[in-house]
Amino acid sequence: FHSETSDVHIFNICGKLLNIFWQKKRNVKNRTNVTVMLQDHPFSSSRNMTILLWHYPFGESVSMNGDACWDMYHIPHCRLVDQHSMFSSADVVVFHNRELIEGTQKLPTDQPRPRGQRWAWMSLEAPPHNGNLDPFANIFNITISYRRDADITVPYAELLPKEDEGRLVEDNLQEKTTLICWVVSNYKSHHKRSQVYSQLNAIVPVKVYGRWIQTPLDSSGLLPTISHCYFYLAFENSVSKDYITEKLWYNAYESGAVPVVLGASLSDYKAVAPPHSFIHVDEFASVRELANYLQELAKDKKRYAEYLTWKQHWKVKQNRDWTERLCKICAEFDSLPQHKVYSDLEAWDKTTSA
Ligand SMILES: *[C@@H]1O[C@H](CO)[C@@H](O)[C@H](O)[C@H]1NC(C)=O
Ligand SMILES: *[C@@H]1O[C@H](CO)[C@@H](O)[C@H](O)[C@H]1NC(C)=O
Repeated sequence: FHSETSDVHIFNICGKLLNIFWQKKRNVKNRTNVTVMLQDHPFSSSRNMTILLWHYPFGESVSMNGDACWDMYHIPHCRLVDQHSMFSSADVVVFHNRELIEGTQKLPTDQPRPRGQRWAWMSLEAPPHNGNLDPFANIFNITISYRRDADITVPYAELLPKEDEGRLVEDNLQEKTTLICWVVSNYKSHHKRSQVYSQLNAIVPVKVYGRWIQTPLDSSGLLPTISHCYFYLAFENSVSKDYITEKLWYNAYESGAVPVVLGASLSDYKAVAPPHSFIHVDEFASVRELANYLQELAKDKKRYAEYLTWKQHWKVKQNRDWTERLCKICAEFDSLPQHKVYSDLEAWDKTTSA
């Protein structure tokens, strides 16, 4: 899974530019919401909250310069710090899970925890990659994860309504040359996605790219390549609750290929993705039925285009910035429970139902 993780890194870096664009747009739009928040929550307006990031996720520094939450996201009174000397004055201390389970970073359990201080556990990885969390029982007060039932939900991306109706996307259908494409770096035959791929490929050819078959696509080649495909296999490496990554949000949605998804349940996808924007493997009794459906759909331009009409009303905001994730703690702090302890974080993480 290490190679899969490094993909996420590269992705995070690439996303920073895009994020700056989004931030500019949002700052203007959110101004009124921010004012309301200030009036409604006297606690937030009377002083700054201090969020201490104990160590950097994957060792990459996180931007905290100036009043980062305000400047970038218009979230007020939220001070991000990374100095351990700030421990005693931090309202929330955030621990990224990867370094804890690797043992390269340790919880400051030798220091008395200041009264009222909350400790947050943060991970954007699926449970199989989070390690054994048994040692972390009765330590954390807050979870930060892509999961919808986390205290702070930080999804890989989210939908925003479009202000102006976009054009119909039918025009570029002529450029489609390949029925089904898949990009895979980390191929493991025991993954459910590999089994579905093999069965599918035995019925209709799937064009594969990626490090697995020594045809890696760099970030500039990814979307143009996928755009020539009718369907993109947005197959997650983990079949886990709510685990829906950039494979759907970026690779498929941004390229214009219709995603065929595998991973979280159909209802998880329905909860966050636009209606009629994806095809879930579980909607078919067999891989053969799925293959037939895809072949028929590609021949019927009108029905195929119906899977793209959501783009007239929605745009996708890619969330790749750790700074934004940390600022979100302040934005949602007042709606967190007054008292909460994860007495069994391992059970919470490995839970499979909502
Ligand atoms: C809150 O933090 C900002 C940015 O660091 C600072 O300019 C401001 O003076 C602080 N306000 C209070 C009340 O401490
Ligand atoms: C946070 O967790 C600690 C450790 O279990 C607990 O002692 C403390 O009361 C909790 N704080 C809040 C605000 O829930």
